[in-house]
Amino acid sequence: MRKDAVLEKFMKTELLRQKAQINLIPSENYVSDEMLSIIGSVLTNKYSEGYIGKRYYPGNTVYDGIEKLAQDRIRKLFKLGKDWHVNVQPHSGSSANMAVYLALMQPTETFVAMGLASGGHLSHGHRVSATGRLFRAAHYGLDTDGVLDYDEAARLVEMHKAKLVISGATSYPRTIDFARFGTIAKKTGAYHVADISHIAGLVAAGLHPSPFAHADVVTSTTHKTLRGPRGAFIACRTDFADRIDRVVFPGLQGGPHNHITAAIARMGFEALDPNFKKYQTQIIKNAQALAKALIAHGFSLVSGGTDNHLMLIDCKNTGMTGMEAQNALEVAGITANRNSIAGDQSPFYPTGVRLGTPAVTTRGMKERDMVVIAAWIARLLLKKEKPVKIKKEIAAFTAKFSLYAN
Ligand SMILES: Cc1ncc(COP(=O)(O)O)c(C=O)c1O
Repeated sequence: MRKDAVLEKFMKTELLRQKAQINLIPSENYVSDEMLSIIGSVLTNKYSEGYIGKRYYPGNTVYDGIEKLAQDRIRKLFKLGKDWHVNVQPHSGSSANMAVYLALMQPTETFVAMGLASGGHLSHGHRVSATGRLFRAAHYGLDTDGVLDYDEAARLVEMHKAKLVISGATSYPRTIDFARFGTIAKKTGAYHVADISHIAGLVAAGLHPSPFAHADVVTSTTHKTLRGPRGAFIACRTDFADRIDRVVFPGLQGGPHNHITAAIARMGFEALDPNFKKYQTQIIKNAQALAKALIAHGFSLVSGGTDNHLMLIDCKNTGMTGMEAQNALEVAGITANRNSIAGDQSPFYPTGVRLGTPAVTTRGMKERDMVVIAAWIARLLLKKEKPVKIKKEIAAFTAKFSLYAN
């Protein structure tokens, strides 16, 4: 085939950007070469609408095997017994969550989840998301110490006679007490859905408490700390299996993305390797080193630090908005996203910046590197040094690391 020079140029530019930047976006990661070759393989050529042994197209024996492998490895990773069912077909975390709501609730019924400004995700019933337009959502937040307000969650579940309660977040730096959510849900007979998209790798490695003993359904993306392809899975008690499967296909989607299903199987293979626990342990060590160094420079972090892979700088004492901070960091070569934090009046004017360590840990960076990165962040956001001056230092630093080191 003829070369597509225009597209190739975009791809080369993006590869250079990924290599040159220090990526602190906690929801991003770098996958292994083996994973990349599966995602770009001939498996993308096939339609497999339906489920294992019940496909709407012929020629699916191999895909039945691959889908079963992906399910089995997720079961093994999270130590799931026969009372759990796994669906690996959702195309994304948002569609996985939508599928669960459609399976377990009637439109206009109410569910309870963490609010966006406190760390929840759009697909947890925010008004701009279809999840918040089809269903009624009531949102809990954080207490004055920046810690999840479990009492408020319990109050809202009772007050609204909520059909389900969601534990899990997109930018919450502390350990989530899934057992407590289980108790809250049981008290009124609500379903407990844990969305572990961000912390799934930590859970798999045994470094964050697992929700499975306390939840009816667990959803997760596969591309964050789990370091798999862009995709998602839903694990549910077998009682809900048929309902959830039917909503994923044919309710919401057509054919599964077979190349992604295979890459999810590969993700399981990599995550079941003993090195995965070392990787997840280093993510946490790096997050704690980064948080400690930032605090020493005078930054204020929501909740005062982190237990997991991410943290939130409250930019108010820097004199910058979240957007200005994000821009200054990006020009210098540090990618981190602006983020709403509790007390923000509008999601369009966030006053926080979210930082995480999964991607830099994949590149092989260690605690000493976090100290160096924190110093650059302080020079940019506190001392207001010109980003272009720091850019050269960062380029020299990142040149020492490959994208996927361990
Ligand atoms: C907690 C949580 N749930 C769901 C999602 C949605 O995932 P996706 O972007 O694949 O739709 C995210 C993504 O950031 C998330 O953090």
